[in-house]
Amino acid sequence: MIQQSKAMDRLPKQFFAALVKKAQEMSAEHDDMINLGQGNHDKPTPSHIVDALKQGAENPAYHRYGPFSGYLFLKEAVAGYYKREYGVELDPKTEVAIVPGTKTGIVELCQCLLSPGEVALVPDPGYPDYWSGIAIAGATMHPMALKEQCQFLPDYRELSDATRRAAKMMFLNYPNNPTGVRAHASFFEKTVAFAAKHEISVVHDFAYGAIGYDEKPRSFLQSEGAKEVGVELFTMSKLYNMAGWRVGFVVGNAQIVNMLETLQDHYHCSIFGGLQEAAAHALNEEQTSVDRLVDMYRSRRDALVKAAREIGWEVTAPQGSFFAWFPVPKGYDSQAFSDLLLEKAHIVTAPGIGFGAHGEGYVRLGLLAEEDVLVEAVHRVGKLGLFKNE
Ligand SMILES: Cc1ncc(COP(=O)(O)O)c(C=O)c1O
Repeated sequence: MIQQSKAMDRLPKQFFAALVKKAQEMSAEHDDMINLGQGNHDKPTPSHIVDALKQGAENPAYHRYGPFSGYLFLKEAVAGYYKREYGVELDPKTEVAIVPGTKTGIVELCQCLLSPGEVALVPDPGYPDYWSGIAIAGATMHPMALKEQCQFLPDYRELSDATRRAAKMMFLNYPNNPTGVRAHASFFEKTVAFAAKHEISVVHDFAYGAIGYDEKPRSFLQSEGAKEVGVELFTMSKLYNMAGWRVGFVVGNAQIVNMLETLQDHYHCSIFGGLQEAAAHALNEEQTSVDRLVDMYRSRRDALVKAAREIGWEVTAPQGSFFAWFPVPKGYDSQAFSDLLLEKAHIVTAPGIGFGAHGEGYVRLGLLAEEDVLVEAVHRVGKLGLFKNE
């Protein structure tokens, strides 16, 4: 009789799996489905990066095992990028770790920083993979409510003394998935002070770092003292439409970077050298493809928000990330509204409750379809007659 481990027992249920299944079934029956429910970019990787991979694939040096923690040239490219983009100094040898996508980095960091029974603070609503990492490590999570009246930033004053004492690690994520807000310098400063006082390691997830609309998003590491208390997750996935390539980084605190690389020595032998070369090329080159990408998302955001306001949907425009976080109309919870949109308007959205209890009352829409498709989706919502203009 096969018995699974306790770690497997602890894995949280994949809330969105049922949604993905239903959306697939509906798509098989209807050819007019609009899928705004997932976080997968809709454009390919820029061709100059693909070409760099092709070139890298030809290099026999990469056909053998490479350095376990990856090539220094890629870490130098990350350090160069942080210096140019954010004015942050990173030592490529000790303050940059390469991960096969930050999704993996999240799970591994939990193993580095949490022991069974310890507490990790997570944003609620938040990216569900934090829960998985914490569960696998056998730790407990404590949600920090992100409320609209507090600009979707956690209020550390709400945490009890016992929680502050028990917490060993904290996840933050700005620009935020799912709410689309950015964090300002004073919030990060407060975070550094709070984390230092209570000896909590901060993991700031900067997955949408380059995707900011009206102001450039801040790196957590720009704040004084940030490197003493934590690390930042930085990924190629969103910035260069490279989600399928699986290249990300953990940067900042040298002790944490060292722990992660030690753990990784047991798990991986880094990522393919050709991939590392292509990733370094992407980071070192002119960032015009990124500028174009952000312009495209901005234009989609503006079209979506304008169309929503025209049907009387009172929405707030996202400041960053490629998600819009819109309130559900009166009389619905997020699941019921999302189901209604799926069944009656053939639109897939992610119900807020899937991101945590404080996600209730909202749905997440990805800016991951062409502008006219986003506007068509809102017109279909308008036809349901749920908002006061209708
Ligand atoms: C907030 C957030 N963090 C991390 C990730 C994972 O990115 P990666 O492709 O680097 O694993 C995602 C992907 O959707 C995300 O939304």
